[in-house]
Amino acid sequence: MSNPLDDLNVDPFDIAAQAAKIIADKSGVEQHDIALTLGSGWAKAADLIGETIATISADELPGFRASKVVGHVSTIRSIALPNGKHALVLGARTHYYEGHGVRPVVHGVRTAAAAGAKIMILTNGAGGIKTSWAPGTPVLISDHINFTATSPIEGANFVDLTDLYALRLRDIARSVDASLDEGVYMQFRGPHYETPAEVQMAKAVGAHLVGMSTALEAIAARQSGMEVLGLSLATNLAAGISDSPLSHVEVLAAGKEAEPRISALLAQIVAKL
Ligand code: HPA
Repeated sequence: MSNPLDDLNVDPFDIAAQAAKIIADKSGVEQHDIALTLGSGWAKAADLIGETIATISADELPGFRASKVVGHVSTIRSIALPNGKHALVLGARTHYYEGHGVRPVVHGVRTAAAAGAKIMILTNGAGGIKTSWAPGTPVLISDHINFTATSPIEGANFVDLTDLYALRLRDIARSVDASLDEGVYMQFRGPHYETPAEVQMAKAVGAHLVGMSTALEAIAARQSGMEVLGLSLATNLAAGISDSPLSHVEVLAAGKEAEPRISALLAQIVAKL
């Protein structure tokens, strides 16, 4: 099926507005307050944060692509939170490594903004560079290094990225779990994992986490005026930091093991927003 975002004459914000309208119609919720993208290990949070009002398949919404990654689901859920707010859970993440360009990667974020969300929570599984982060450690993202050589922003639009990962939201997260560490996330294109030399480069330039998502989405969220909270699950020590080879199956297994714990943590954070 063709994707309207593939037509570069189309304004991606118009497609996002169309998708948001369908979400509002199907859920009966005019305005969502918070949006979440749940990466490897974080998916269970959707069941814990509140009551699901509507589950919408990604293929019912213009611009969305069904995820082809094993372990990733492709639905958008509208959830009523106990505090009366509404959350939108984006289960259909398109990764930059899928090769469809950057527009589909940030379409969920733009749709969430069009649906009214003021806070964007981006989660992922990542390789940890700090040896103190045992596999299964959740880490707050304090900043990022975008190593994809691209941007979701089109045209001469010079968006400020200072405090992109809002200190206010990180402080709320730490008020739930004071032991949460934080670090700089570096987005690589993937889909291959990094070489040990690339991980050493990442470390030398100030990164603590390496992964294949989040930075481009965070930029788009900021462009749309949202506050961003970023959380990584360190599923493994990054290549060469430990001697063991990396495997997607093991990354998913680490995510599954950590899932109940970190999903409960995220649900507690969401309750305070
Ligand atoms: N590198 C990149 N992405 C990842 C990793 C990693 O080590 N682990 C989980 N996602």
